[in-house]
Amino acid sequence: MKTQYYTSSSLDGFLATEDDSLDWLFALGDISQTSYPAFIKDVGAIAMGSATYEWILRHAQEVSDQTGSPWPYTQPTWVFTSRKLPVIPGAKVSFANGDVTALHHEMQAAAAGRNIWVMGGGDLAGQFHDAGLLDEIIVQIGSVTLGRGKPLFPRRVLSPDLALVSVTQVGTGFAELTYSVSRNGR
Ligand SMILES: NC(=O)c1ccc[n+]([C@@H]2O[C@H](COP(=O)([O-])OP(=O)(O)OC[C@H]3O[C@@H](n4cnc5c(N)ncnc54)[C@H](OP(=O)(O)O)[C@@H]3O)[C@@H](O)[C@H]2O)c1
Repeated sequence: MKTQYYTSSSLDGFLATEDDSLDWLFALGDISQTSYPAFIKDVGAIAMGSATYEWILRHAQEVSDQTGSPWPYTQPTWVFTSRKLPVIPGAKVSFANGDVTALHHEMQAAAAGRNIWVMGGGDLAGQFHDAGLLDEIIVQIGSVTLGRGKPLFPRRVLSPDLALVSVTQVGTGFAELTYSVSRNGR
């Protein structure tokens, strides 16, 4: 069982524009050509921050058109927030606030031997790393720069704690990089 930060980013390290747009991302390629279909099969629990959750809420129609459901995940999901947010009917969503370590135990139990997907944003993934809980970063680097936006991983992790494990080209739109994250340096 691994805890994996799996995401897409611009070449200059942003997950989204400053106003949370992902329009730049969808033009870059077909998700079915990436590692995502294989990756998601091994995911047993999901963690995300409130901005990521609210993006899904705001784009419910689009998500539904593309996946057949406004909430495309069957896995139990923890949304980190200090606020009260609406729940999408049928979504297995719990709200969490504060230290990620305690919630990680709950997620592990729910994942029942499968992996935990930290979907983002970058600081939430950083909180898992700070707590020594992150095993892998898998990032699809898109062939685009944004100049400004929401950061991929606002932490300083130096060699050799981050080790490149694999590189896969996905058409002309993405380079998919997998890094192992050492827990020893913390
Ligand atoms: N490119 C991609 O593949 C990809 C992947 C993921 C996300 N995204 C996008 O990137 C953007 C990410 O936004 P973001 O960087 O602002 O990150 P985010 O993690 O989605 O949301 C950040 C917010 O989550 C809440 N939060 C975080 N940690 C918490 C904790 N431990 N306890 C309680 N609340 C906590 C806080 O808000 P409150 O307490 O005010 O709720 C915080 O401001 C979104 O637009 C998302 O759609 C893109």
